[in-house]
Amino acid sequence: MTPWLEAREVSFRYPDGTAALDGVTIRAGPGEIVAVLGPNGSGKTTLLMVLADLLEPTSGEVLLGGRPISALRDGYRRICGVLFQNPRDQLLAPTVWEDVALGPSQLGLRGEELRSRVESALSALGISHLARRSPHRLSSGQAARVALAGLLAHDPMIILLDEPTASLDLEGRRALEGILLDARLRKKIVVVATQSSDLAAEFADRVYLMVEGRIRSSGRPEEVLSDGDELESVGVEPPTAVRVFRALFPHSPGRAPVRLGELTQELLRRLSGRPHRG
Ligand SMILES: Nc1ncnc2c1ncn2[C@@H]1O[C@H](COP(=O)(O)OP(=O)(O)OP(=O)(O)O)[C@@H](O)[C@H]1O
Ligand SMILES: [Mg+2]
Repeated sequence: MTPWLEAREVSFRYPDGTAALDGVTIRAGPGEIVAVLGPNGSGKTTLLMVLADLLEPTSGEVLLGGRPISALRDGYRRICGVLFQNPRDQLLAPTVWEDVALGPSQLGLRGEELRSRVESALSALGISHLARRSPHRLSSGQAARVALAGLLAHDPMIILLDEPTASLDLEGRRALEGILLDARLRKKIVVVATQSSDLAAEFADRVYLMVEGRIRSSGRPEEVLSDGDELESVGVEPPTAVRVFRALFPHSPGRAPVRLGELTQELLRRLSGRPHRG
């Protein structure tokens, strides 16, 4: 069974003295999509890099199943896949095909098995036609799709995504959503760093709101995301559903719906004149 991933009291200071993380504790369990939401500079990327074992905490530790990831060494790299905030930073090979093949070939896949893993990942992301291109000459959204295809081909147990929707169009987002839902079904661990409270509302099982290197609040999306004023006060745009609900019913007591599906239900209920389940 997939173990829990946990950052325990993690602090991180960059060499120039910038304190990016200050006593951050987060947990992500098997089958769980965890969103780390926060404004620019709040420490999301730094936290993801620490979870990926690419930065070593100044204090505190990251544990997998209760064991420090630093002790797992290369074993951890095999089971942990990262999508960088700027996917171009992670595309290394001369062609898209070879880049997507990096993860699975490091896992030991060869020949037909490798070929089919790479080709189905390219096809899932709608980029089979880019296979022979250099990854360095792609548009941002194409580069993001290549990086996601690499993640899909690697198929890691722990998936860390940094602003995955930033440059994706509709088709790219649908592919990303497929990856998230498949990960949940297959009991993987997913941590998504994002400024998008809509992404957090629609997909996360648990949300951590991060402000100035600390966790301000955490819980289920409806617990963390329904207070639009609180989110705005820290520089995070509330979910669309919350904004629409507040505009339509500024004096409504009770919590605003955070997901569009719930907003629609609520509007239908009110339009049909049935009493509101406040
Ligand atoms: N290499 C670095 N050296 C020094 N300070 C850094 C470095 N990278 C990030 N920082 C600082 O650390 C803090 C956290 O940055 P981080 O990139 O983790 O934020 P973020 O929440 O991911 O922001 P964004 O939403 O803009 O991606 C910021 O104050 C930032 O200026
Ligand atoms: Mg960032």
